[in-house]
Amino acid sequence: HVRRPMVAGNWKMNGSKALVSAMTQSLSEVSLDNVDVVICPPMPLLACVEPNKFYLGAQNVSQYDAGAYTGESSTSILSELNVRYVIVGHSERRELFAEDDQVVVQKVQAVLNAGLTPIVCFGESLKVREEGNYLEFLYAQVDAVLNGIGAKIKDCVLAYEPIWAIGTGNTASPEQAQQVHAKVREHIAQEYTDIAAGLTILYGGSVNAANAAELFSQQDVDGGLVGGASLKTDDFIAICQAAN
Ligand code: G3H
Repeated sequence: HVRRPMVAGNWKMNGSKALVSAMTQSLSEVSLDNVDVVICPPMPLLACVEPNKFYLGAQNVSQYDAGAYTGESSTSILSELNVRYVIVGHSERRELFAEDDQVVVQKVQAVLNAGLTPIVCFGESLKVREEGNYLEFLYAQVDAVLNGIGAKIKDCVLAYEPIWAIGTGNTASPEQAQQVHAKVREHIAQEYTDIAAGLTILYGGSVNAANAAELFSQQDVDGGLVGGASLKTDDFIAICQAAN
């Protein structure tokens, strides 16, 4: 691998204290020296994870530092809980919680300012893909972030998550994933050549134990952002091993 692989498990609004224990235990029993593993449980469960052989990630964060923002969590609170990564701009946040590019940029900036690593998600809907102009759409999402943070993109992880592949069992083919990853890397390289070559770009969307190895073998696919399959210890470990 040119870049160190990463597998991040996004539990979404699933899991339990029991799953935290089971996953921590299972990960402690395998050797995964060549892949960074990240577990992103729901916010309240972050407090009962002791990261050991994996990193802790949050699924969301407030763009604000502190104050009267009922229901929100700040980067400093997350840092206190040993969080190292924060998923920003997931399509579910964009669609269900009305987060636009401006909010995404503010959150990415907050995460970077706190010394944490954002996992910045981008991806097109089925409609956009079928209309054929999906690369332009994806460049615009990435450019919104680039315009906000410039060369600090080097401290981000990117995640390509085609919306039509999320939770559908309908994964992008390895060729489809590779095409977008290579094009987006090329796009970023126009301004940030050296940074682009070193950027970790994860693929997300119905990654499972059976398809992970082939997806991760693509030159520009540096690992995965895994939803459903990250809730099963055996499947998740198999996916981590496929990236190792
Ligand atoms: O963040 C994870 C993605 O949305 C993928 O979810 O693996 O259940 O399709 P999925």
